[in-house]
Amino acid sequence: MESVTFLGKQLKNPLVLASGILGNNAGILERVHRAGCGLVTMKSIGPGPRDGHNNPTVIDLGFGMINAVGLPTPGYDHMDTEWQALSGRTFPLNASIYGGSLEEFVQVARFVSEQGPEFIEINISCPNSDRHGMLFGVDEKAAFAVTNAVKRVIAVPLIAKLTPAAPDIGKIARACEDAGADAICAINTAGPGMIIDIEAQMPVLAFKKGGLSGPMIKPVAVRCVYDIYRAVSIPIIGLGGVTTGEDAVEMFMAGATLVGMGSAVRYRGIEVFDQVNRELADWLTDHHVTRDEIIGAAHDRRHTP
Ligand code: DHB
Repeated sequence: MESVTFLGKQLKNPLVLASGILGNNAGILERVHRAGCGLVTMKSIGPGPRDGHNNPTVIDLGFGMINAVGLPTPGYDHMDTEWQALSGRTFPLNASIYGGSLEEFVQVARFVSEQGPEFIEINISCPNSDRHGMLFGVDEKAAFAVTNAVKRVIAVPLIAKLTPAAPDIGKIARACEDAGADAICAINTAGPGMIIDIEAQMPVLAFKKGGLSGPMIKPVAVRCVYDIYRAVSIPIIGLGGVTTGEDAVEMFMAGATLVGMGSAVRYRGIEVFDQVNRELADWLTDHHVTRDEIIGAAHDRRHTP
């Protein structure tokens, strides 16, 4: 795929690595970029240090995954080695952050902004903690407050990552836009869900409940991106179950400007970025259209029988 300009930054293509998939090691993130990823997102960084949940934390269900990793983080100010290695990077970086309160979000955001990522993504949508994240993403006033507070202390564009658990995700997106968000990223994991080991008669995940990702949530993600596109005028990073070029086309048609992948890396390896770039380019060529022309194409169209 061709390069795109996103919030004033040049990306080599419109594909994004979702947060939390491959950690925060500079060498690994660079490999993902070399494998064809236009924008690389870090695992959410919090006030920390925090261990995360006990194992098992991630289960592959075949039709998608369920996870409750539990926001493990060394803490934003215990990452000297990572920040040092990332300072010499040759790829665009999206730094995801979380906090348990407005003050924590601001504290982490201020520090992370000074490390010079291209973008900061506020994770107001994690289902895997009783205290962190998601509460901000299901309430318009809270979403506005945290977006506004973070926006004031950072020097780079702000992306708000939303949860499909919000009763009206369009309204949350609008609140974030009103508060100064430069883009929306949707969706975080769906659910939460639960799987039970019927022989042991207990939930499989140590945290019992977990966020759902992969192909099973794609229709939810497409609906959310569609709703957000109607509610805001800032760009959308669409993700949730995208695994193929045709899935990416669907996300663009719902209204996404960029398309992210997470679980797809598990299913197809990091080569998935080059593969989806190629599949996408082939689909566009075969249909004689450009990416620009299909963004939002599913809106206000009447199906002719
Ligand atoms: C985790 C899961 C999420 O969906 C998220 O947004 C952040 C963290 C986790 O369990 O670590």
